[in-house]
Amino acid sequence: MSSRATNAADSSVAVTSAPDVLSTPREFGEHAAAVVLVNVSKSFRGPTGDKTVVHDLSLQIGAGEFFSLLGPSGCGKTTTLRMIAGLERVDGGQIFLGGTDATEVPSHARNVNTVFQNYALFPHMSVFDNVAYGLRRQHVEKVELRRRVGEALNLVHMDNFVMHRPRQLSGGQQQRIALARSIVTRPSVLLLDEPLAALDLKLRESMQEELKRLQRELKLTFVFVTHDQAEAFAMSDRVAVMEGGTLVQVGTPEELYLRPATRFVTTFVGRANFIPASLVEGTATSRPDDVASRQLSETLGADAPSGTEASVFVRPERLQLRVGDFAGIEGPRVRGTITDKTFSGAQTVVRVRVREHVELTVTCDSASIEAREAAVGAEAVVTWLPSDATLLDR
Ligand SMILES: Nc1ncnc2c1ncn2[C@@H]1O[C@H](COP(=O)(O)OP(=O)(O)OP(=O)(O)O)[C@@H](O)[C@H]1O
Ligand SMILES: [Mg+2]
Repeated sequence: MSSRATNAADSSVAVTSAPDVLSTPREFGEHAAAVVLVNVSKSFRGPTGDKTVVHDLSLQIGAGEFFSLLGPSGCGKTTTLRMIAGLERVDGGQIFLGGTDATEVPSHARNVNTVFQNYALFPHMSVFDNVAYGLRRQHVEKVELRRRVGEALNLVHMDNFVMHRPRQLSGGQQQRIALARSIVTRPSVLLLDEPLAALDLKLRESMQEELKRLQRELKLTFVFVTHDQAEAFAMSDRVAVMEGGTLVQVGTPEELYLRPATRFVTTFVGRANFIPASLVEGTATSRPDDVASRQLSETLGADAPSGTEASVFVRPERLQLRVGDFAGIEGPRVRGTITDKTFSGAQTVVRVRVREHVELTVTCDSASIEAREAAVGAEAVVTWLPSDATLLDR
């Protein structure tokens, strides 16, 4: 019988349970949902047979929402975006745009525009003609066309570049022209596939702000693909996390960070500590002070078999470090030895080994007494609030 959660001296672990997957099911009215995917699947034929790259994916994106698809390389983000755009047929499921079934509607007849990573401007055309392209195809009359191109260029702060050619512009400027070109036809949904990936960090951050401003001002629905968690969090109203073709969780950035549904989401959206815990047989007879097993059995249900494994997760900034004086500590805590201390400006990162193979990462304010007094090799106690701990991997 193991009780790893409680073997360390002083330990008592209090937990709250993780939310169900898809923690914020959001009900949009029939007309409020701009994009709805229902059980969408897609396979590609490969050298070793068919490979499912998007599996049974369902989501609702509200009109005017800034919605991101976030996940590691190859998880199916671009494929999902291309199916919404109609550039890729679905193998199963349905896609609704603006409340109507668009599953069989060809790409040019869908009221969506796509901005790709490599902006694909027409090199032989001026900035004006690039932006005017979609309007000319719609046979928009001349005066109106000039007005709308001017307005789109103004929105992306590029009105002084109308006669430039793409090669005379920087990457960020070209990206803004690509955006102007995609919003000028007023699509109800704009799909953006890693549109900032080619830009350097500074430019990327200023483009993030501009994109957000544009989206708010025009009240467009944005579906934004990225593998960068910070970018998704900085811009989005809600984020869908994908893993291996499957949707793992949808929520606001706060929900994903504070109440991740799985271990994958937990580590993909930030740093995390996992404290292993096991359910101990007959808590009353084993250890009356065994908070971990008591809470585990409450969460798992009375008939969970003894030895059931789980882990408790806490973010590094929600852990508090105590060094030197351990008097009067209450609540969940573990005792250990400091193994590393790294100064990183405003914060200092301290590693504490609390038992064999289990090290906790604690971030503390560099100005705090704990950060200054923490020394490698010293004894420390790590504490946290029960409400900051979540039970995972049931
Ligand atoms: N046309 C295709 N034919 C065969 N396999 C494909 C095709 N397009 C994509 N795939 C495969 O489908 C999977 C998902 O690809 P997708 O481009 O959607 O990933 P992604 O999440 O956009 O990744 P990245 O972040 O690298 O752009 C990958 O394994 C890819 O190799
Ligand atoms: Mg991609």
